[in-house]
Amino acid sequence: MKTINLLFLFVLYSICLISCQESDSGQTIGIIPQPTSLQTAQGHFTLTSKTPLNIVKGADDLGPACKFFSELVARSLGSPLLTEQGETKTGAINIYIDTTLAKEAYTLHVTGKAIDIKAGSSSAVFYAFQSLRQMMPVSIEKGEKQPAIEIPDVTIQDQPRFAYRGLMLDVCRHLFSLDEIKTYIDMLAMHKMNRFHWHLTDDQGWRIEIKKYPELTKIGSMRKETVIGRNSGKYDGQAYGGFYTQEDIKEIVQYAADRYITVIPEIELPGHASAALASYPELGCTGGPYKVVGEWGVFDDVFCAGNDKTFEFFQNVFDEIIPLFPSEYIHVGGDECPKTAWKKCPKCQKRIKKEGLKNEHELQSYFIHRIENYLNSKGKKIIGWDEILEGGISQTATIMSWRGTKGGIEAAQKGNQVIMTPNTYAYLDYYQSLDTKNEPFAIGGYVPVEKVYSLEPTEGLTPEEGNMIIGVQGNLWTEYIPNFSQVQYMVLPRMAAIAEIGWTPAKLKNYENFVGRTIALMERYDALGYNYAKHIMSVSGKTSFDEEKSCIRLTLAPNYQQAAIHYTVDGSIPTLQSPVYKEPLDITSDCDIRAQLFRNGKAIGKEFNQSFKISQAVKKKARLQNKISEVYAAQGSRTLTDGIRGTVDFRDGNWVGTCNDDMILVVDFEQPTTYSKVNVGCLNKVGDWICLPVAIRVYASENENDYTQVAEIKDIANREEFKEEGIHNITLNIENGKSRFVKVVVERQKFLPEDHPGAGNAAYVFLDEIEID
Ligand code: ACM
Ligand code: ZN
Repeated sequence: MKTINLLFLFVLYSICLISCQESDSGQTIGIIPQPTSLQTAQGHFTLTSKTPLNIVKGADDLGPACKFFSELVARSLGSPLLTEQGETKTGAINIYIDTTLAKEAYTLHVTGKAIDIKAGSSSAVFYAFQSLRQMMPVSIEKGEKQPAIEIPDVTIQDQPRFAYRGLMLDVCRHLFSLDEIKTYIDMLAMHKMNRFHWHLTDDQGWRIEIKKYPELTKIGSMRKETVIGRNSGKYDGQAYGGFYTQEDIKEIVQYAADRYITVIPEIELPGHASAALASYPELGCTGGPYKVVGEWGVFDDVFCAGNDKTFEFFQNVFDEIIPLFPSEYIHVGGDECPKTAWKKCPKCQKRIKKEGLKNEHELQSYFIHRIENYLNSKGKKIIGWDEILEGGISQTATIMSWRGTKGGIEAAQKGNQVIMTPNTYAYLDYYQSLDTKNEPFAIGGYVPVEKVYSLEPTEGLTPEEGNMIIGVQGNLWTEYIPNFSQVQYMVLPRMAAIAEIGWTPAKLKNYENFVGRTIALMERYDALGYNYAKHIMSVSGKTSFDEEKSCIRLTLAPNYQQAAIHYTVDGSIPTLQSPVYKEPLDITSDCDIRAQLFRNGKAIGKEFNQSFKISQAVKKKARLQNKISEVYAAQGSRTLTDGIRGTVDFRDGNWVGTCNDDMILVVDFEQPTTYSKVNVGCLNKVGDWICLPVAIRVYASENENDYTQVAEIKDIANREEFKEEGIHNITLNIENGKSRFVKVVVERQKFLPEDHPGAGNAAYVFLDEIEID
């Protein structure tokens, strides 16, 4: 017994070591992003309102860092910390700017005597403060009064892997208040990110005041109404809009600068231009009329590339943009510019001839180059989406690779700087769970935290090419994100993963370890009132069939090891008193399993919930005789006899589909068995090419050769009770049913109906379960 206990303790200790570091003062140190090196020691420093911020060697822009930290602790300690200058001393936070260090590098040394910060610049001091913050109790975030704050002894040496660590926010599709934008910047600061990419102009709204062009905000900032759902053709009838004045912009730029964050404005060109064209129709190829669009997508009306007025417009716009944004870079968009209008426009065609361009793609390149030259002449460099690669780019342009990493790889190999924002890893508007019915409606896609975390920005590049990757960014497009609470839900905690990719050396990245630290950070999100997604703390369930016991077996797994799973089988809410999950569960009768992670006595994260209906078929050998689509095969025959029903999402893993064959399932009861009904779960989703079967027939046999038909239902699709879209249970009653073999033949509708957009193509049939009782 003793050995077992010792082993258990050792395992627990090991888990703790890899996940977060326990200091000897009992506090756990788990910092995001993971520092380059961190060593704990015994003891702690006691911070009080009397502890001075002692500047041993300062820098001009150190003020905001000190102000931030002082204000952070002042609410709890009752008064701000005093700033003074002098030699390193005990009882103080000693700050020393050492310009021989890398600009964003710092060392943080906490002992019982003092806190010593040595940093390459003021921003690095700010990062040291963010690390200190994550070592202090969460209660300080709420300003809970306390006479002193204990900070565990530690030595940290830290510096970011990449210079550019960003997050984008689209304020065109939906608008956010100045306070909300400031909170977004606070979130960036907490994660040691240093770029806020502000997407300010698009088809659905122009959001920045340009004094020379007042119509941009008078007309271009308002759309008449907004489409409901995914371009449904139905509208909400509500005018929507707003913009930021130049004073607002200055306020945000300063707020960000005080957190050592650079704001990069994006002014979209030559596409995504509807709002600007609605304001100044002469800038389009046809002269309009144009409107600020209320739908989502890519639109043919773009800035005319043949009209010199367009370039004059942008020069004037940038003349007002440049003084507002100290950033070295200006983002000029460049993505998704259809060439339809240019092909028909005499001015654009004339430009193509005059400039000796091959086609409209070279015209796009001409457009970008001309704008870039202007910006370069004003001392600015451009960033553009990866489409700007088409037709060639200048050496000083930086590429944002969004259509995967391909464009970024190509640009890096050409010697251009690259920021990796691949949609497959870094699009934070994509779903973060496959359980989409329990998620806020989103654009699509699937990028869970683990997927984000797995991005390696330099993959596919030699070390030298890899040097061209200057960083990473998460993008938040807001078509389907109408409020700030949902903004937070979409980015938190996925931005923590982006932050760690951007900061932490690749060799120190470890997902399991990251999850542990993220869960600790979530307590801080809670204290700050941030809304965040909890999938990272979920229980996942996997079913298999145990051949020996002839039953379904459910294996539960926490995606976070330092928590216990408690579960119930009767549909009641799991509590600390519910059984602790120790081993896979044999499912032998109908049940409703609910499972929940618990940590420190509290339920955390998302609950797992799965109902099972165990028909006689579940316990027996079942075989599908026909071919099924590989894409929708799920677990083959077992899917139809696993006791689990599907949802209306036919990709949820619980459906079997085919468009080649009828569906034929044979169940072998191994001995004559009685039954009175067969129920077939079918999906009716004609819009997705999924039709109900034409007929279902049930046959009985003792030897698997001579079958007798025992039940039949025909003309299913024309029956009133099955007309609605969704899941239908088609039940066949059988009188005196008794046999060893039961064969269920589900006859597929061969073709999509005449009035269907895909008429003439094969129809799919989708089944989730065949129950025999
Ligand atoms: C983009 O997502 N169109 C850059
Ligand atoms: Zn034109």
